[in-house]
Amino acid sequence: MKQNIYDDQRFFAKYSSMDRSRKGLAGAGEWHELKKLLPPFQDKRVLDLGCGFGWHCRYAIEQGAHSVVGLDISQRMLSEARSKTTSTRIQYLCMPIEECDFPEDSFDVVISSLALHYVHSFEDVVKAISKCLVPCGDFVFSVEHPIFTAQGSQDWHYDHDGTILHWPVDRYFTEGVRTATFLGEKITKYHSTLGTYINTLLKAGFDLTALVEPQPEETMLRTIPGMEDELRRPMMLLLSATKRC
Ligand SMILES: C[S@@+](CC[C@H](N)C(=O)[O-])C[C@H]1O[C@@H](n2cnc3c(N)ncnc32)[C@H](O)[C@@H]1O
Repeated sequence: MKQNIYDDQRFFAKYSSMDRSRKGLAGAGEWHELKKLLPPFQDKRVLDLGCGFGWHCRYAIEQGAHSVVGLDISQRMLSEARSKTTSTRIQYLCMPIEECDFPEDSFDVVISSLALHYVHSFEDVVKAISKCLVPCGDFVFSVEHPIFTAQGSQDWHYDHDGTILHWPVDRYFTEGVRTATFLGEKITKYHSTLGTYINTLLKAGFDLTALVEPQPEETMLRTIPGMEDELRRPMMLLLSATKRC
C-alpha cells in the first residue's frame, strides 16, 4: 500500500497554507535554481511525476509545451491542480508514480519536483522514465538531499535553551524507509545516498548534465525569519540528466 498522506484532510490543510502552495513557484525556495536546469519546452511532450498543484505543468505550457501529463497519487492535490488550470493541453492522472508505465518514446521531457523521495525504488522509476522518454530526452528532478533524509527525524538537534546545535546525519549508507515529522505529522519517506541517485541514472543510460544543491535567494534570506539556517546544511538536491542518444 503506497502512502497517500496528501489526501489526509489535516495534512492537506497544512500543506495548502505553505508559501509554495499559496504563491506557487515564486514561493518555492529552490525555484530560481530548478528553473535554470529546465530544457526549452517549446513543442515538447512533458510528464510531471508527483505534480501536486500543477505549478510546473502550467509553467511548461506557458513556455510553449505541446502537452503535459501531470501525475499524482492524491485526489485532493489534483483537484486543486485542476481548479487552477485552464489549458486543455494539461491532463492530470491520479495514479502512483510506482505504477507509471507509459509506452516507449511518449515524452520529450520528464520532470519531478520533491516527489521521488516518497518512492521506494528510485531504480524502478528511472527504468520506467528511460522507457517512456525519447533518446536525447531530458529528465530534471528535485528530491530531498541525502544529508537531509539520512538520519530520519528531519529536525535539528537543539541545546537546553532551544538553540540549534547542528543537523544530525546518521545511517547515511543504510538506504530505505524513514519516518519523518513534516508539518507536525508522521510521514514515510525514503533515503538514498548521493551515489545511488547518480549511479542509478548512469546505469540506466542517462548522462548527468547538472547537480545543484540550492541555497535560498538573497531576498528570502533577508526577509524570511530562520531562513539563514538553510545555509547550514543542504535540504534539496537538483539533478538534470539526458537519455543517451
Ligand atoms: C511536496 S509535494 C510536491 C508537489 C509538486 N511537485 C510541487 O513541487 O509543487 C509531493 C507530491 O508528491 C505526491 N506523491 C507522493 N507520493 C507519491 C506517489 N507514490 N505517487 C504519486 N505521487 C506521489 C504527493 O501527493 C504530492 O502531491
